[in-house]
Amino acid sequence: MTDAALPEAWQRAELPELPAGAASVDDFARTIYGRTPTGGHVTDVVLRSREEGELAHRLRHRATISCPLGDLELDTLLHLPVGTTPAPVIVALNFTGNDQTIDGDQAQRWPYAAIAAAGYAVLTVDYRQIEPDDPAPTTPGVRALFPAEAGSWGAVGAWAWGMSRCLDIAAAIDGLTTAGAVALGHSRLGKAALWAGAQDERFVLTVSNDSGCCGASLFRHPGGEDIAAITSRFPHWFVPSLSAYAGLEKSLPIDQHQLLACIAPRRVYVASAEDDAWADPIGEYLAVVAATPAFEGGGIGYHVRAGGHDLLEEDWRHALTFAQR
Ligand code: GCU
Repeated sequence: MTDAALPEAWQRAELPELPAGAASVDDFARTIYGRTPTGGHVTDVVLRSREEGELAHRLRHRATISCPLGDLELDTLLHLPVGTTPAPVIVALNFTGNDQTIDGDQAQRWPYAAIAAAGYAVLTVDYRQIEPDDPAPTTPGVRALFPAEAGSWGAVGAWAWGMSRCLDIAAAIDGLTTAGAVALGHSRLGKAALWAGAQDERFVLTVSNDSGCCGASLFRHPGGEDIAAITSRFPHWFVPSLSAYAGLEKSLPIDQHQLLACIAPRRVYVASAEDDAWADPIGEYLAVVAATPAFEGGGIGYHVRAGGHDLLEEDWRHALTFAQR
């Protein structure tokens, strides 16, 4: 999208003063997401079912990940494009269960035929199987499988960790390659995708869709969700100390264009929706503009589409076109 096509107010908005390249992954761990502990490795990937398809084969695996205090089991759903071997893989977590992405309430967010036609495999896991999305979880997630002193990672950090384990799982499956891997996520899972992309260099492209506050949107751009709102409703997502910045966004040592810059020179694609005010599409656009000096030769891309907070086939198509470049 060219600047000329953007609403005038977007072009006039001010950019943050913090230089794009001045913050590190450690700074983001300390301030927002918490430190990801080391350890946790895939010990077993068992094929549960395989259905042949015209455009993509559908495979289900059960993977075991050995963590310091026990095992985590993940049920993955993989769509493997017919005719591309080995296929590069997109890792994208889902909200309500693998089957819902096929013919349930999430199906419109998962245009499997278009993804296969672009030559990509896509591997998904129910994000709640990695870590419950609950301030007081009644079932343990991966954070309970690491000793407390391993870090104070939030749930977003746990989901990001899970995306990296999905890549480990992909590496154990025939017909796939982790070269050219993509991390993609919508909304809270877009925040997780960005944090996964910043930490795991195997992801050569990170796609954030409507990720908003603590995702691709600038803290310093007023509008949409702020730290007070996100830390009071979702205290389990980030380090507890983030709430100390409620109402004090301008005193944060970092801002989110710097998270995008942490991913450079690997590529980033940010997708926004015009009516998604809560995710602050202008703040997302300005983060991309402010991060651009850290990327070379079109390494960062952006689109804003009509409509509201959702992951649509249109978003996938733009991201896939960027991925194929
Ligand atoms: C809430 C939350 C957002 C989040 C979104 C989602 O709206 O405030 O930060 O991105 O849920 O995950 O759908």
